[in-house]
Amino acid sequence: MAKSKASVPIGVFDSGIGGLTVVRALKRVLPNEDIIYLGDTARVPYGIKSPESITRFAVEDTRFLINRKVKLVIVACHTVSSVCLPELKKNFSVPILGVIAPGARAALAATKNRRIGVIGTQATIMAGTYERVIREVARQEKLGSDVEIVAKSTPLFVPLVEEGWVDNDIAILVAKSYLLSFQDEGIDTLLLGCTHYPLLKSMMKRVLKKVTLVDSATATAREAKKILAETGICRNQNRKPNYRFYLSDLTPNFMEIGKRFLGEPIPFVLRASIAE
Ligand code: DGL
Repeated sequence: MAKSKASVPIGVFDSGIGGLTVVRALKRVLPNEDIIYLGDTARVPYGIKSPESITRFAVEDTRFLINRKVKLVIVACHTVSSVCLPELKKNFSVPILGVIAPGARAALAATKNRRIGVIGTQATIMAGTYERVIREVARQEKLGSDVEIVAKSTPLFVPLVEEGWVDNDIAILVAKSYLLSFQDEGIDTLLLGCTHYPLLKSMMKRVLKKVTLVDSATATAREAKKILAETGICRNQNRKPNYRFYLSDLTPNFMEIGKRFLGEPIPFVLRASIAE
């Protein structure tokens, strides 16, 4: 049973194309695994929608991947991970991994003064999940409860990245107006709680010089590796892995934007009918 399960793919989904940063990390950390990616480009953005809509979309996205017989579902979307991960875990029996706990662990490992900033979409920040999980992880790992967390929604970053404006005057102006107050708050670590923000990292680094920027893609890929190893369903064969990319809408510039997130051209894209 475990042997046949090992040979099936990992499923990854996001509200759009940004979750390809997680696929990029998975390809590095788990190079033998097949991956099926689903981007709900027809309904993106999720970050400005209600918890009810986000949950309904996320259930449909998860079902789409499970119908394709994946052994693990990775929720690459921070908005979904913040708003309804427990709901997904309750509804499906396949292991489901979100990006919040891996990001929280990475931020706690990085901070020295125990003051952490978190940025994300409106829905992510309103859910308050990052604050709760960072405190929970700190308690579990016996790091104490004296962590200060400053959370802020920074919604304009998503369209800026989609437009490819990651380092021009407008991007810098927006970053300054969102981020400079974090300096007054005395944070030493900023958790990038959205799929799109890693692409702004080098520009943000110049705006917040003394702050360590943490993104959760690599931490999530490592956590996936741990889950597969613990459950004995790692694929160890050394053969070329197979990657399949589904999008719910083939938007005019998905190839160009996708390449930015994946770090290489998306080879071939299939049209997904999610609410099947
Ligand atoms: N993927 C979303 C996230 O990580 C950002 C885009 C959206 O709002 O759907 O929160």
